[in-house]
Amino acid sequence: MGNNLLQGKKGIIFGALDDKSIATKVAERCVEEGATIILTNAPVAFRFGEIQKLAEKLNCEAIPADATSMEDLEDLFSKSMEILGGKVDFVLHSIGMSINVRKKKAYTDLKHDWMSKTFDVSAISFHKVMQTAYKMDAVNDWGSILALTYIAAQRTFPDYSEMAESKALLESFARSFGYHYGSRNNVRVNTISQSPTMTTAGSGIKGFSEFFGYADKMSPLGNAPAEACADYCIYMFSDLSRYITMQNLYHDGGFSNMGMNPSILGMDG
Ligand SMILES: NC(=O)c1ccc[n+]([C@@H]2O[C@H](COP(=O)([O-])OP(=O)(O)OC[C@H]3O[C@@H](n4cnc5c(N)ncnc54)[C@H](O)[C@@H]3O)[C@@H](O)[C@H]2O)c1
Repeated sequence: MGNNLLQGKKGIIFGALDDKSIATKVAERCVEEGATIILTNAPVAFRFGEIQKLAEKLNCEAIPADATSMEDLEDLFSKSMEILGGKVDFVLHSIGMSINVRKKKAYTDLKHDWMSKTFDVSAISFHKVMQTAYKMDAVNDWGSILALTYIAAQRTFPDYSEMAESKALLESFARSFGYHYGSRNNVRVNTISQSPTMTTAGSGIKGFSEFFGYADKMSPLGNAPAEACADYCIYMFSDLSRYITMQNLYHDGGFSNMGMNPSILGMDG
C-alpha cells in the first residue's frame, strides 16, 4: 500500500540481484509509491534471470551496466532518459563486492590488485555514476542520490576487511559530490548506513550469521530489516527530505550509539 510519495518521479536503481537484495526491496517500494524506474546491474547478474523477472513484475526496463565502466554508465543514462522521457529524480547505488573477502584473505595478507578492484566496484563506481549524471545533466533539480554503506567506515569490524575502507571512500564521495551537485542543481547526495542484512553480499562476510545476532542484540530496536531500509530510501527520494544532503544517515536500530548492552552479557532483568 503506497502513499504516492514518489508520484510522477523517475529513478534508476542499481544492484537488485535477487529477492533478498536491498535494492530489490527499494525498487518494489518505489513502484508502490508511484515512481517509474529503470533497474540496472552488472551484465553478469543478468545471467541469473532474477532481474528480468523483477522488471517484468514491476513493469519496467532492466538495462545491463558495469558500474565501473564510464561507457556503460553513459549508455545507461542516455537509454534511461529516452525510455523515461526525460531526466531522473533519484538514483540508488546499492553495489558492493570484494574478492579478498570472497576468498577469505586475512586483512594482514590482502592482494592489493584485488583491493583496487574492490575500491573501484564498491566506491569509485559511486563517483563514476555521479560524474556521468552530472556531465549529462541527467538529474532534475532537487533530485536525490543515495548509496548504501556500513558503520565499518567509522569503527573496526575485523571481518569486514577492506570493505571498511571502501565504505569510508564511498561516504566521502557523497560529501564531496554533494557540494558540487547541491551548488549547481540542488541535487542532494547521502549515504544510508544500514544494519547487517541477510543478502548475498552480507552473508559473504566471515562469521556473518553470528555477527548478525550480536548486532541484533546490541541494538535496542533490533537490526533494521531490508524492508525498513527501503522505506527510509523512499523518504530520502521524496520531497519530504529535500534539505538533507552530504550526510551519512544511520539506519540501524540504535546500534551506532550503543557502548554496551547488558542483554549481551545476560545481565538484563
Ligand atoms: N547486507 C548487509 O549486511 C549490508 C549492510 C550495510 C550495507 N550494505 C550495502 O548494501 C548494498 C547492497 O548490498 P546487498 O546486501 O543488497 O547485497 P547484494 O549482493 O544483493 O547486492 C550487491 C549488488 O552489487 C552488484 N554489483 C557487483 N559488482 C557490480 C558492478 N561492477 N556493476 C554493477 N553492479 C555490481 C551485484 O550484482 C549485486 O546486485 C552494498 O553497497 C552493501 O555493501 C549491505
